[in-house]
Amino acid sequence: MRALVLEADQQLVLKEVPTPEPGEGEVLVKIRAAALNHREIWISRGLYPGMKLPSILGADGAGVVAAVGHGVDGAWIGESVVAYPATGWYPEAEWPTRDFKVLGMPQDGTIAEYVLLPEENLCRKPEYLSFEEAASLPVAALTAWRGLTQRGRVYGGQKVLINGIGGGVAQFGLAFALALGAEVFVTSSRQEKIDRAIDMGATGGVRYTDGDWPEQLRSLTGGIDVVLDGAPLPELDRYLKFLNVGGKVVYYGSTGGRNATINLSKFFLRQISLLGTTMGSPQDFVDMLAFMELHELRPLIDSVFPFEEAIAAFDALRNGGQFGKIVISDFPA
Ligand SMILES: NC(=O)c1ccc[n+]([C@@H]2O[C@H](COP(=O)([O-])OP(=O)(O)OC[C@H]3O[C@@H](n4cnc5c(N)ncnc54)[C@H](OP(=O)(O)O)[C@@H]3O)[C@@H](O)[C@H]2O)c1
Repeated sequence: MRALVLEADQQLVLKEVPTPEPGEGEVLVKIRAAALNHREIWISRGLYPGMKLPSILGADGAGVVAAVGHGVDGAWIGESVVAYPATGWYPEAEWPTRDFKVLGMPQDGTIAEYVLLPEENLCRKPEYLSFEEAASLPVAALTAWRGLTQRGRVYGGQKVLINGIGGGVAQFGLAFALALGAEVFVTSSRQEKIDRAIDMGATGGVRYTDGDWPEQLRSLTGGIDVVLDGAPLPELDRYLKFLNVGGKVVYYGSTGGRNATINLSKFFLRQISLLGTTMGSPQDFVDMLAFMELHELRPLIDSVFPFEEAIAAFDALRNGGQFGKIVISDFPA
């Protein structure tokens, strides 16, 4: 089969690799569409924990079940599915185990003609979504969903800030927070992205490239209850300029840098919670799909690249001009 492989020397190549065969409890999914996440940039730069190369990249994918291994219900064959993108987060568990692994390094991922998955990772593709739309969901939508619901406990009437609205997780954060009944504000490096977010239902936004954006946000909003953030400020105290008492910062990434300073006493006196979040459990994924279906939410797709141009799709992700997900489609028949 053809696959996008990150070689041991960090080079991305499209090449022929052996097609895997499903073993006990496994299924083989013929990929119809895959999507990119910022994670793949960290991996391609050798900056992701537990690097193991070569690996087939891609955590997000949707397709059709082509074959099943021993012990798997044969009724899955021919079903259109979207894959929960990780292993090692066990049913009923509040947190993932140390075995938690995301598809696409160290396990082989979805940017290939076929991907091998444990049966329990399969979810039926919601019928109202195309393969490209379904493939856009797994990592980004799940991260936003858990961040807002399980960690941020967002409810109707709250004011929510989505930081860096151009990002994949942020896009889902905007859609979910609005559907949960929150009033949503955004930041971006570009005014046109703020304007697009307003068209989608956000109340307003500020450019995080302005030095005084926390003060601007306070004037605009009167105070924020929950922040969903993939690029926290290195001086966390500046969040106190706009956070309400009891506010929560739910952070899922460190795009802006890995270290931050914090004045602890200001945070506890204001009853502020700083909450980390990572993707979500298999049950979160099922709940998220049901919520999306109930509200008929669709992911925003920035661009679709044919499989044979998958490396160009990575360049587009690195350039950061996107508004929504970058999808790979037209896999070899
Ligand atoms: N914990 C998890 O489970 C998890 C899951 C997914 C992603 N992540 C991490 O979360 C981060 C975002 O991931 P993604 O896939 O959504 O990325 P992405 O689609 O590549 O998003 C990048 C966006 O980040 C925004 N940004 C960049 N620098 C910023 C800054 N200094 N302040 C605020 N926003 C900034 C930009 O927004 P504008 O274009 O609007 O300026 C940019 O479009 C990455 O670090 C990723 O590794 C973690």
